[in-house]
Amino acid sequence: MKVGILTSGGDTPGMNTVIRAILIHGKLLGYEFFGFKGGWKGLMDGETLSLPDDPDDLLNLGGTILKSGRVNPYKDPEGINKIKSTIQNFELDSIIAIGGEDTLGVANKLTQEGIRIVGIPKTIDNDLDETDYTFGFNTAVTIATDALDKVKTTAKSHDRVIVVELMGRHAGWLTLYSGIAGGAHVILIPEYPLPFNTVVELIKKRYESGKEWGIIAVSEGYGFTEEHEEHFIKDEFGHIRMEKINIGQKIADELKNELNVPTRAITLGHIQRGGPPSAYDRVLCTRLGLAAINLLKDGEFGKMPALKGTKIIPVDLADAVANLKTVDEEHWNTALQIMGIK
Ligand code: F6P
Repeated sequence: MKVGILTSGGDTPGMNTVIRAILIHGKLLGYEFFGFKGGWKGLMDGETLSLPDDPDDLLNLGGTILKSGRVNPYKDPEGINKIKSTIQNFELDSIIAIGGEDTLGVANKLTQEGIRIVGIPKTIDNDLDETDYTFGFNTAVTIATDALDKVKTTAKSHDRVIVVELMGRHAGWLTLYSGIAGGAHVILIPEYPLPFNTVVELIKKRYESGKEWGIIAVSEGYGFTEEHEEHFIKDEFGHIRMEKINIGQKIADELKNELNVPTRAITLGHIQRGGPPSAYDRVLCTRLGLAAINLLKDGEFGKMPALKGTKIIPVDLADAVANLKTVDEEHWNTALQIMGIK
């Protein structure tokens, strides 16, 4: 079996760990692998990067040795023909696409065109449906929690409110989890946007109780409205560039105006996607990579291995990409209760 591998979308700690598991298990079965460069673009252009003979060092290596990108082959009128030519030229039997909702959305459409694909669910946003967690989320939560812990000591020393802007365009999982784990006093996410006057009230209450400092964790997509849609640049999948909105700084400025308290804003940015995967993600990535090979072996295409409870089970790509998995009410209630609102 000749298998093409690609990593697409925002890079995520654990991509290389998945590749390692694929190579270890696949080579034992006698499979041959080709790594395509930069996601779907590499598959369209037939451009490869070499994969290591000994994949051991990939276990804890951040980023992706195959590089990643946000190219959507359906935006190129010749995109699908180019992919078909590459499959023919390399005599590929199947493809493993490692990515989030955009990447696996493409994988699902290609499946419907008869291309034999297996997906692997990644994203620090954790917004892919049909899996309890995507790989990379746990690492990003760990990084963001560590940042909140650190920001806390300096906010307290200087009696300031520090607003920490975290990634997450439509889904607030990362902000919610790290906000709870890092003890943020206000948690702001796109799905359940607390009104600004509630933010003011919560901080005012802290000051009145003698705690003249605070931490606000905010998702980049909090407060996003259609007005923003018109003004900002979009990527090939139609997502606007959230960092241009600068919501963290806006909240810090408005809070200073309202309460006349010292505020600062930081944007955690790509640090959340950098460095080695956590121990939890290393295990998850290993299980997902091995399971992907089993799906190929069993001829189960158009699927991805998913985490359901403690088990890894195959699910249809069509189901995984049908809806975005956003924060549910039960999780949001936890945040409300810990903020003292409910
Ligand atoms: O999808 C993952 C993600 O990290 C989002 O949370 C964020 O909005 C986006 O990617 C940032 O994209 P880029 O790396 O292209 O700036």
